[in-house]
Amino acid sequence: MKVAVIGAGRIGQIHAKNVAEMAGLQLVAVHDAIDTSANALAEKLNAKAVSLEAILSDKAIEVVMICSPTDSHADIIELAAKASKKIFCEKPIDLSSNRVKACLKTVEKHNTPLMIGFNRRFDPNFAEVKRRLQAGFIGKTELVTILSRDPSPPPVDYVKRSGGLFRDMMIHDLDMARFMVGEEFVELFATGSSLVDPKIGEAGDVDTAAVTLKTKSGIIVQISNSRRASYGYDQRIEIHGSKGLLKAENILKSSVIEANSNGILQEPVQDFFLERYEVAYKNELKAFFHAIKTNAAITPSGFDGLKAQELADAATESANTGKVIKLSH
Ligand SMILES: NC(=O)c1ccc[n+]([C@@H]2O[C@H](COP(=O)([O-])OP(=O)(O)OC[C@H]3O[C@@H](n4cnc5c(N)ncnc54)[C@H](O)[C@@H]3O)[C@@H](O)[C@H]2O)c1
Repeated sequence: MKVAVIGAGRIGQIHAKNVAEMAGLQLVAVHDAIDTSANALAEKLNAKAVSLEAILSDKAIEVVMICSPTDSHADIIELAAKASKKIFCEKPIDLSSNRVKACLKTVEKHNTPLMIGFNRRFDPNFAEVKRRLQAGFIGKTELVTILSRDPSPPPVDYVKRSGGLFRDMMIHDLDMARFMVGEEFVELFATGSSLVDPKIGEAGDVDTAAVTLKTKSGIIVQISNSRRASYGYDQRIEIHGSKGLLKAENILKSSVIEANSNGILQEPVQDFFLERYEVAYKNELKAFFHAIKTNAAITPSGFDGLKAQELADAATESANTGKVIKLSH
């Protein structure tokens, strides 16, 4: 199967390498708005640097992977759907739910297979929590706690274009909340502060945030986000059920423990997403290409992308107004 990658930045480089190394797939083309970026990646992986038009008009290219900045996703999804491509698109589809809805109409019209890159669903630890949850090991889910903290804040220029912490960062956790609970939420309260970098506050965003969500059946989810964790990339989940607890802890840089009379010292947690989710990125591609080959339903779907976006919009509104938001479906 011939594949093209659009956007040769941080995430595009990961997906391109994984495609190039996966049996049965051939990375044939790379496109980037900056020619030198496309050339460098294409050269490294034995592909060609080409224009977007060349990818869309090449009938031999079956799959496109959209890894360009968020504000280009919806337009490229629509162009690729019209060109009968199968699509993997990085999260989020767009920063506006209305734009996402319009884009998904085009996807539906052309019957386009589309996966959204909520990679954390494919992390082996979180996937195992979900498997045990579904197998009923802890009975009925009652409380879910998701902790997600970046090692350090992004540049303020990035923050200004990001759509805000809830749409840029928490969207992953909001998708994880839906994934774990398996029900839609009816109520949401969010709050945020700028405690890490005053420039983020001056840019109108927050860098520290918490959200509480509730489903119709009463399951409560709490999400805790920060743009800074001095000990590394903090990624944990805990699920409390009627018969017990499921937990996925952080992954440390090594398993070495140093003990002395002062106490016990462990390694810091892994640095950031590139290493923490290295396996998850491979697993998500395997799931995507397996679904395409077997004609199976693709998840996370465009609908999942929309639902996470709506929750991120509601969280932004709640944090701005101080109000509890009622959600309808
Ligand atoms: N799932 C994840 O874990 C994850 C991690 C990082 C980023 N992302 C998402 O991936 C997307 C890209 O993020 P990144 O961190 O790789 O950004 P990046 O800035 O590192 O890379 C983006 C690349 O796209 C190129 N580009 C810009 N406009 C383009 C266009 N119209 N067409 C083609 N190429 C274009 C840029 O030149 C750059 O090389 C974002 O939507 C982001 O939210 C997801």
